[in-house]
Amino acid sequence: MSTNSKYVSVVATPVKSFFVSMLTRDIKLEDAILDLLDNSVDGVLRLGTKGGDKPFEGFWVGITFDKDSFTISDNCGGIPWSLRDYAFRMGKTHDYEPTLVGSLGVYGIGMKRAIFKIGRYCLITTKNENDSYEVEIPPTWFEDESDWNLPVKASAGQKYDGTAIVIKNLNPGIPQIFGEGFLAFSRNLEEAIQTNYAYIIEKGLSIKINGHLITPITTKLVFDTDATEDVPTIRPYIFTTNIDGVDVFLAIGFTRGIPSQAEALNDQDGKKYKSESAGWTILCNDRVVLYADKTILTGWGEAKIPHFHTQFIAISGIVEFRSNDAKKLPTTTTKRGIDANNPIYLQVKNKMLEGLRIFTDYTNKWKTREPESRKYIQEKAHLSLAELKIHTERLTLKSYTKSYPPGYQYKPILPSPSIIKPTQRRISFIKDLSDINKIAEYLSESSAQPSEIGEKCFDIILDEAKK
Ligand SMILES: Nc1ncnc2c1ncn2[C@@H]1O[C@H](COP(=O)(O)OP(=O)(O)O)[C@@H](O)[C@H]1O
Ligand SMILES: [Mg+2]
Repeated sequence: MSTNSKYVSVVATPVKSFFVSMLTRDIKLEDAILDLLDNSVDGVLRLGTKGGDKPFEGFWVGITFDKDSFTISDNCGGIPWSLRDYAFRMGKTHDYEPTLVGSLGVYGIGMKRAIFKIGRYCLITTKNENDSYEVEIPPTWFEDESDWNLPVKASAGQKYDGTAIVIKNLNPGIPQIFGEGFLAFSRNLEEAIQTNYAYIIEKGLSIKINGHLITPITTKLVFDTDATEDVPTIRPYIFTTNIDGVDVFLAIGFTRGIPSQAEALNDQDGKKYKSESAGWTILCNDRVVLYADKTILTGWGEAKIPHFHTQFIAISGIVEFRSNDAKKLPTTTTKRGIDANNPIYLQVKNKMLEGLRIFTDYTNKWKTREPESRKYIQEKAHLSLAELKIHTERLTLKSYTKSYPPGYQYKPILPSPSIIKPTQRRISFIKDLSDINKIAEYLSESSAQPSEIGEKCFDIILDEAKK
């Protein structure tokens, strides 16, 4: 054994310059700015939401930028002095404000990452009740490897409870984006906010970019609010559940009439049948983290589901995940995407596939007769997520405890093409419900309609008869 050992300890403290550049590497500028918006929302949540359907009414966020600076200011309650360690430190210790209900903040890096992405000078001025102060990140802070502290002083800069973040000494490339690229970047940022913040704007938050008010883009599904549940009509497939403290609401259906193949092909410029909004939109605590996805990530092209195709541009789905504990939500650290390996997402995806199949099958069933199918959509209500939830309460949702994941679901009875070809005949018959359920279970089709069970039985026998 050596006694005068040189092996005492090694330095493992983070290197500031590495930290600053690494943190900003994998996030787009727009997404970094969205992180600042998330914090404004957190500020409102911290005040305690007013409840109702417009809890963000009266709160605003303004973003302005030009070739020299970037500013975001809000009236969202400010940063309490008691939270300074958490707000200004890089990364949060796990005992700090662990559950700000409804927040998406998990790691304690969003604000710092956005600042570092944009520039090398920052002034944060904030007022929360009796706390009014400003924190400065001077250019010298970035060069000093040893000192991580930031200067702070009392400030009367904020007149109302809220925060203003001003960033200067813009990083290389940013003056071009904010200057010559002003219009293009404004448009990109606007689109990102219109889709990702759609549901928070709907709940009352006012967001302006360079003085221009942002309007939300939301998905609205066709929902026949008049017909009784036994009448074939257009309504979405709906599934709700709670998995490990995460509330899930899923709805998929049509946003419009199905275009014919020719119409879809003739509309390549996307004017009449815009396909942008088709696909799955996923929300985590009101923030859209995935918008109109048409890839295998949300089930397109998986198992028995076809790949996305212009024929399916009328199909849209929404999945909402909600949890008091943001760590459980299936989103990535940039909040712009889904963590595809998240166990809760994987369970819910089974139901997304089930819903998707109903509407792709239906679309295929009406192939060549699409214009005729559109009469079922005419004059029917188009419901937003909030309205869908209200109307879902009036539907009879079936409880599923055996299938996976357990939950409650509503499966619509969609109208079928009515005309029977000369070479076809209709078969219909009446059987005991207990027997139908028995066969449904035997076929592992516990959520299928009786007519579908009957048709399946026919198809199975037909296959055998053909052998
Ligand atoms: N504009 C703001 N209004 C209110 N609180 C804010 C604001 N900006 C930052 N904060 C506070 O600072 C915290 C740290 O921000 P951030 O670095 O984004 O970490 P997190 O990932 O936890 O949100 C936020 O959660 C919030 O509590
Ligand atoms: Mg944040």
